[in-house]
Amino acid sequence: MKRAKCIIDKDYVIAEVDPKLYGSFIEHLGRAIYSGIYEPSHPTADEQGFRQDVLQLVRELAVPIVRYPGGNFVSGYSWTDGIGPVAGRSRRLDYAWQSIEPNQVGIDEFADWCRKAGAAVMAAVNLGTGTPQDAGYMLEYCNHPAGTYWSDLRIKNGHSEPHNIKVWCLGNEMDGPWQTCALSAADYGKKARETAKIMKWVDPSIELVVCGSSGPHMATYPEWDRVVLEHTYEQADYISMHRYYENEGSIENFLASFADMNEFIKTVAATADYVKAKARSPKTMKISFDEWNVWYIKKQTRIPWTEAPAILEDRYSLLDALVFGGMLCTLLNHCDRVRMACLAQLVNVIAPIFTEKGGRVLKQATYYPFQQVSLYGRGTALKTLTEAEKFTTTLYGDVPSVQTAATYNGEDGSITVFALNCDMKEDTELVLDLRSFGSVTMREHRIMDGPDLFAQNTFAAQDTVAPRNGSIVAGRNKVTTILPKLSWNMFRFGR
Ligand code: AHR
Repeated sequence: MKRAKCIIDKDYVIAEVDPKLYGSFIEHLGRAIYSGIYEPSHPTADEQGFRQDVLQLVRELAVPIVRYPGGNFVSGYSWTDGIGPVAGRSRRLDYAWQSIEPNQVGIDEFADWCRKAGAAVMAAVNLGTGTPQDAGYMLEYCNHPAGTYWSDLRIKNGHSEPHNIKVWCLGNEMDGPWQTCALSAADYGKKARETAKIMKWVDPSIELVVCGSSGPHMATYPEWDRVVLEHTYEQADYISMHRYYENEGSIENFLASFADMNEFIKTVAATADYVKAKARSPKTMKISFDEWNVWYIKKQTRIPWTEAPAILEDRYSLLDALVFGGMLCTLLNHCDRVRMACLAQLVNVIAPIFTEKGGRVLKQATYYPFQQVSLYGRGTALKTLTEAEKFTTTLYGDVPSVQTAATYNGEDGSITVFALNCDMKEDTELVLDLRSFGSVTMREHRIMDGPDLFAQNTFAAQDTVAPRNGSIVAGRNKVTTILPKLSWNMFRFGR
């Protein structure tokens, strides 16, 4: 048995968690929209064609904000193709995913879907083939109350109230050669700044996200981030970060993804702080980690130019759910800086929710850690001082085998602790020292573990990978508990 210790103190505050940390993402990609959230012929479809079985699972995740319409898709998308009477909309070639886009869902329908899901829209504008003026027009269509060409068009299209979209992304991954009309950092920086000026003139209440590097693998990282921020520091509110992990053969490396994500956040924050100092700005740039996940299927043989092809439909295992839990801890531990994040994506495409066309809906293994952290990782994030043995990785050096995060809810006095145990051979005895909280009682211990790391949920066996109850351990403000080997844990304490 391994041993670890974790001290959590009410006064060791990271920050109040912004609920937007638990955002997600729906792109016009594969079956995310068509036969994902929208399928008019489905038995559960509502009057707008939205699948209510999917909506229900989305609501249960308590996702506060959903990024739309892309992703790579947005850089060749004309948002005006998605407005007006649905029957008259154009079918277009989508360059990003080499698919046919039928435009049956556009910004009006998506805003309605978000309202039904209890989420806000985070809209991305096209800074590939699109112009700064297109972006201004789209914002005017969405947020201007009435009395102008674009706002009156929205009203004519059935939405008398503005959508009031508060967060906007200035393009997507504009550093990537795969992006439609990719740009250099300086060219993107100028285009983003001029677009931002128009957008903040149209609606000064919005917040804007500029594209950071598509990931640390880019040759231009982190120089891209510096140059872009030097052009946009005054106008931007967030810089974006994107990062996907996969099991490339070493389980140790894969489990340590949380440690790599930690370093990535520190580097982008440091780069932004350098620009802050250089600009003599009082503003600290927030981070929007608006694409993160485990992702395997990058390329797939398929018939080009089909509608809603079943692409990037990764199926997730227990191991993926463990890695995913570690990443959630990292986001929470940086929530003073990472004020917003989007799990990429939400339905069918690299997603926790998986549908059959015309049929059932399934919770993938990653659904559960996301739901637990989204529901209970709110309130005040507290620093966890954790001592645990380290394990060796070839990519990231020696990494602690226990990753933790904690939140405190000042209203009901509850404390939630999340813990990933990466030890592959032995259980770990964890002493949780809640010294400053007085007498507390463990109310719940939920565990995800199992004999088969590669087990997945299927329609035939839907609960193969799901949390189970652990033992409730007595103790006033210091409890000794067991983290099974290779497990994801959530502890809840109350008065
Ligand atoms: O989420 C899938 C894709 O990953 C997005 O379209 C793109 O932004 C990223 O490369």
